[in-house]
Amino acid sequence: MLKTHGCGTLRAANAGESVTLAGWVHRRRDHGQLIFIDLRDRDGIVQVVVRPDDYPEAYAIANEARGEYVLRVVGDVVERSEATRNPNIATGDVEVVATSVEVLNAAKTPPFSVSEDDDVNELVRMQYRYIDLRRPAMIATLELRHRLNQFIRDFMTEQGFLEVETPILVAATPEGARDYVVPSRLNPGGFYALPQAPQQFKQLLMVAGVERYFQIARCFRDEDLRADRQPEFVQLDLEWSFCEEEDILGLLEELFAGIAAALRPDLTVPRPFPRLSWHEAMERYGSDKPDLRYGLELSDCSDIAASSGFGVFSSTIANGGRVRGIVMPGGASLSRREVDAFTTLAKTMGAPGLVSLQFTADPAEATEDDVRSPVLRHLGIDDARRIGERCGAGAGDLVLLAAGESGMVSTVLDGIRRELARRLDLVDDSILNFGFVTDFPLVEWDEDGQRWDALHHPFTAPQSEDAHLLDSDPGQVRARAYDTICNGFELGSGSIRIHERDLQMQVFELLGVGADEAQQRFGHMLNAFEYGAPPHGGFAFGIDRVAMLLAGTENIREVIAFPKTMSASDPMTGAPMPITEEQLEELHLLVREAVAPAAG
Ligand code: AMO
Repeated sequence: MLKTHGCGTLRAANAGESVTLAGWVHRRRDHGQLIFIDLRDRDGIVQVVVRPDDYPEAYAIANEARGEYVLRVVGDVVERSEATRNPNIATGDVEVVATSVEVLNAAKTPPFSVSEDDDVNELVRMQYRYIDLRRPAMIATLELRHRLNQFIRDFMTEQGFLEVETPILVAATPEGARDYVVPSRLNPGGFYALPQAPQQFKQLLMVAGVERYFQIARCFRDEDLRADRQPEFVQLDLEWSFCEEEDILGLLEELFAGIAAALRPDLTVPRPFPRLSWHEAMERYGSDKPDLRYGLELSDCSDIAASSGFGVFSSTIANGGRVRGIVMPGGASLSRREVDAFTTLAKTMGAPGLVSLQFTADPAEATEDDVRSPVLRHLGIDDARRIGERCGAGAGDLVLLAAGESGMVSTVLDGIRRELARRLDLVDDSILNFGFVTDFPLVEWDEDGQRWDALHHPFTAPQSEDAHLLDSDPGQVRARAYDTICNGFELGSGSIRIHERDLQMQVFELLGVGADEAQQRFGHMLNAFEYGAPPHGGFAFGIDRVAMLLAGTENIREVIAFPKTMSASDPMTGAPMPITEEQLEELHLLVREAVAPAAG
């Protein structure tokens, strides 16, 4: 080895030892008669002192060294005097007095500083990711992910789950996104899809008798990217035979609580994890992934709106819509402009507007003078009071109401609720508030496609007491599906699966997949179900998303070593890029439209 110790490992107990270090110049300070070098490696940073009088050769080399040079330093560990100790770094009680310095490699001036916490353009960071990852915070994130994976593997192994790898070149899986495809040279015109998830393979492993499977699995989805989405990401994927919902939720609670305790012991994890049915989550919070760290629950005012003299309200209800509201405590003191800002926000989420009511007195006793609202004239004081009371507003509060199609109203009020929590400083970063959302609908109506879509995926079992509605009223059928949420994010989803061929065919039929197409696309599943498929269920959660929460960031790219941009490109390697004519020929492909090379 070119080194005997990690830079960051040295402590007062090492004083008197001769050590050999190797690492990067984090900072270099020239004090005339002394050069200080903060030498950095993966373990951390230690201060090296080079004195010209004692070791002139070492001094001459240290004098040449610049930021990010790779050095090898031989020296003695010395305890620092009380006055010069640095409590801010782990090695702050010692320094290394160099006897020799060697340049292992020089470095150009990096495009951004590794040692300063500057706000560097993210594209530049991605283009020079190998430098960005040197930053101590980034190394810490890589370590966090490593420990997360390690914890998961140990936990799942202890629970008797077997890690099985499944293929990456597969036939398309219906997880709801577009596929990334790979052309086959040996099969002209044939394409593999990259797996959106190992869903079908893990179910086939259950038919194969594996009983308990898990995998830290890479998944690929060509979908619109967001702060918490990447085109390729990693799941903890699991499947379990002869289990029911309670077994899986119990296992997940132990797993998530264990992860949090191991990796963020400083954070509070309320237990048992709260459970909400999908219906309850949508009613109380307007979201299937509500942030449960604060209240700010929604109230339904549709019945009041139905008979209201305010035409917008009554016609909304007449057209099958809803009117719901949320209270901002203390919001009566907001200016007109501040209230309008909520309307502007609501419009970005698809609402035509918001109705506001500011109560300077308790709604139960409010007179017209106590209510400020642009629509008070239309609404009348009686309905204004009823709305205030229904929403639980008090004196000094603001009520915001959204009217329209039910889904839009939920989306808008969920967004307003999150914004209010931020504004009112209700988001407590010291809590990881996990929860389970259960009883999702099996299918939802796709207006555009004019058909039923699986809310989770087509392999999810309907609840047996609702199965009789599959033909007559599919929208009312609840699925044996569940999500894990945390702090307003969806971490993962799963379900008890269909394991009977006939039921699977019935659900395909409902989703508009006819018998022939079902046999062609999913024949392997249908056939497998005829050879003794055990009852089974499973779950998958996004490891990147969990890492995000543990690292305290809302940007998934921060916890991925080599992420892609929002346009799914890699500014470092230039992917995706055109391939040569020869490759195209071999792959039997003609390109209709050449893409511009990736940004960066
Ligand atoms: P689902 O599609 O809900 O379920 O995915 C499970 C979890 O994977 C994560 N995830 C993502 N993370 C980052 N970027 C993405 N583009 C992305 N897409 C999904 C999320 C999500 O909750 N096969 C089923 C699971 C099952 O039924 O067992 C599945 O994949 O955290």
